[in-house]
Amino acid sequence: MTWEEQPPQDTGRLVGATAEGEELAAEAALRPKDLAEFVGQPKVREQLDLVLRAARARGGTADHVLLSGAPGLGKTTLSMIIAAEMGAPIRITSGPAIQHAGDLAAILSSLAEGEVLFLDEIHRMSRPAEEMLYMAMEDFRVDVIVGKGPGATAIPLELPPFTLVGATTRAGLLPPPLRDRFGFTGHMEFYAPAELERVIHRSARLLDVTVSDGGAAEIAGRSRGTPRIANRLLRRVRDYAQVRGDGVVTEEAAARALTVFEVDDRGLDRLDRSVLEALLKLFGGGPVGLSTLAVAVGEERETVEEVAEPFLVREGLLARTPRGRVATPAAWAHLGLTPPPGTPAAGGAQEGLFES
Ligand SMILES: Nc1ncnc2c1ncn2[C@@H]1O[C@H](COP(=O)(O)OP(=O)(O)O)[C@@H](O)[C@H]1O
Ligand SMILES: [Mg+2]
Repeated sequence: MTWEEQPPQDTGRLVGATAEGEELAAEAALRPKDLAEFVGQPKVREQLDLVLRAARARGGTADHVLLSGAPGLGKTTLSMIIAAEMGAPIRITSGPAIQHAGDLAAILSSLAEGEVLFLDEIHRMSRPAEEMLYMAMEDFRVDVIVGKGPGATAIPLELPPFTLVGATTRAGLLPPPLRDRFGFTGHMEFYAPAELERVIHRSARLLDVTVSDGGAAEIAGRSRGTPRIANRLLRRVRDYAQVRGDGVVTEEAAARALTVFEVDDRGLDRLDRSVLEALLKLFGGGPVGLSTLAVAVGEERETVEEVAEPFLVREGLLARTPRGRVATPAAWAHLGLTPPPGTPAAGGAQEGLFES
């Protein structure tokens, strides 16, 4: 299947149905294995290094860790590194996978001592499971309910000490009682271009691709501060260099390849641009509600909010206001469009009369 053949509501983010498997396999191959190999995030790395070293020195289990940050910044990778650094096994599950408290009880009661339990998208866990987790985190104990109705009894079950690593794209959504039970919260930041260049050079070595400094810089500049995207773009640029060039990823090859794959010079891809275009062309620059905007681009609310928006907001192209999403003057300029007269983005016709 070529990119062109993908169904229209697949926004061509370079992750189609068939590309999903490639993505997962490639990611697994490129994951740093320990803290020293983990590029960037100097604060989280230093904090985590202290937490883990101290736990190791005490011969105990590390405190529960919450990792918050946008998709693709390295939360899953860090959870595996935590287990590796502690020499502990890791169990991986996610909030949406835990529908009932019983699901969680089954997982918790089968944990080995010191095991790392990675709970991805922890903010999407069900309420009863969440309450069971409170007790498990604090007292290493769960109450298993046997029977129904008035005859139901709670049988307390001791758990071995374990380390919960929770990941969330939005720490603000976690109920305070849950947030407070984590001994340490690492806030993952977007990566600086120089850090992404290091990620790209590292991945290129592992993929056995030759990348010039200029090529790495070109890819880094379009990677939206996100290692997952940097790795993905590197693979597409490699394809291009292989088919249309001599296999070497130069600055020129990278620029041409990313034009073919519709990633522009600021790193906006088709989803980002379709969100901006809908906002500008259909809604005159806003304000418009998130749900309406999502329907207009044929995407899930969450995709628009968690994948496209954080980057657009950070780039100063879109603003979230209480009345809805609003395009900034920079958004009109980036898409080469003229804001309608009288809108704030046009500078406001009336204000112009009284200025200067
Ligand atoms: N600090 C980093 N250094 C090198 N590669 C990284 C780093 N962070 C993430 N990656 C790469 O990006 C990919 C996505 O990271 P992942 O941990 O799955 O992100 P998240 O769980 O936050 O969505 C991984 O395959 C990994 O190779
Ligand atoms: Mg992840």
